[in-house]
Amino acid sequence: MALPSSVLVVGSGGREHALIKSLAASSGQPRLLCAPGNAGIASEAACFPVAVDDLAGLVALAQREQVGFVVVGPEVPLSLGLADKLIAAGIPVYGPKADGARLEASKIFTKEILLKHKIPTAPAGIFSDVAPALAYLKKRSAPIVIKADGLAAGKGVVVAQSLAEAETAVRDMLGGKFGASGKQILIEDCLFGEETSLLVIVSGRDYVILPTAQDHKRIGDGDTGPNTGGMGAYSPAEVVTPALLQRIDREIVRPSVDAIAVEGIEFRGTLFIGIMLTPGGPSVLEYNTRFGDPETQVVLPRLSTDLLALLWAATRGELRGFKPDVKPDYAVCVVVAAKGYPDSYAKNDVITLPPTSSLPPQTFIYHAGTARNAAGQIVTNGGRVLGVTALGATLREATARAYAACDQLQCASKYFRRDIGARQLNRL
Ligand code: AMP
Ligand code: GLY
Repeated sequence: MALPSSVLVVGSGGREHALIKSLAASSGQPRLLCAPGNAGIASEAACFPVAVDDLAGLVALAQREQVGFVVVGPEVPLSLGLADKLIAAGIPVYGPKADGARLEASKIFTKEILLKHKIPTAPAGIFSDVAPALAYLKKRSAPIVIKADGLAAGKGVVVAQSLAEAETAVRDMLGGKFGASGKQILIEDCLFGEETSLLVIVSGRDYVILPTAQDHKRIGDGDTGPNTGGMGAYSPAEVVTPALLQRIDREIVRPSVDAIAVEGIEFRGTLFIGIMLTPGGPSVLEYNTRFGDPETQVVLPRLSTDLLALLWAATRGELRGFKPDVKPDYAVCVVVAAKGYPDSYAKNDVITLPPTSSLPPQTFIYHAGTARNAAGQIVTNGGRVLGVTALGATLREATARAYAACDQLQCASKYFRRDIGARQLNRL
């Protein structure tokens, strides 16, 4: 299979840096481009200042640079129809069209598919008016989960500990706190258990399940404080034993891929399934239609398979029989954020990175919210700034390496959790 000679990655986070690093290792040795990228990606790919929601600009860039393949990182361009536009222009793209991206962009659309196809998920009511929503709440008990239907940058879910908190969330969301994304809401029973993120490379009815990972969504140690985009991850998530993974495949992955096809969606991209491992069995929390961030930073370094070959096979409908090779190593990613995230935080703080030669072995620093200032220094430019990732023969070794690198970083406003991986380490 001839691989494309140039690849444009759309996005600017740690996920995109990890994608670029893995694509750079491809036997196809592609020319790499990124839009818009960040300070770290700029040292490995040609970066172009085109925003991820500028669909016409991205298509024009791909045409002008004669790009052979586009890999889309974030959900926003996918939900706006970037893949549709690229396909119409004859440019192969990894990432679903807008109809597939709806599985992430509308939680109600997804809930209806899950229920219709009897895929395990929490029971939920759907509301667009406050009065019936409050009446429904009165019949349920706390804790209970309120979800805005549309995209809300990971902030549209409230796990309410009391009915009073649930009522406030209902009024806020239907009252316009999330704009159009909250015009409709779901009120969903609360599930209990550990969560796991499953990244599945999908090509129509064919799919490949990537190694398991666990994210750390809360800002604070011990899973405290508000939800974030994700503060760290590790892989494999050993709570998902081989037997449990088989069950998840049988009860969730296969039925999900089939349901999506039956609904008439031709899906070529990543189906990221958020799963709660409840005492009664695995249950779907959500679908995302892209790689996870930071999950990708721990999953990709564990693959010895050629990532470009894998994504290209999925895009061309040639995924059947593809067996990815996975290293036995453990991977840990500690997200270094700007102090104040997920609320307000400062930008333009200078970051001094340790030279690669002084990093622990098998340790890489993926850039997320970084830029260069006029003096050429690397500065903070977003909430999540870096993803410090390490591999190791054990989870303990990988974690020690990642934290040693975090401690070497100099940045006045750096903040990171100290307990990434602790849940699994405490079980050892
Ligand atoms: P979602 O964007 O739907 O995955 O929700 C974000 C986070 O909210 C999840 O990762 C869970 O931690 C939590 N969550 C969502 N739905 C539920 C639920 N039904 N029960 C408990 N927690 C949930
Ligand atoms: N880490 C969760 C996400 O990418 O949505």
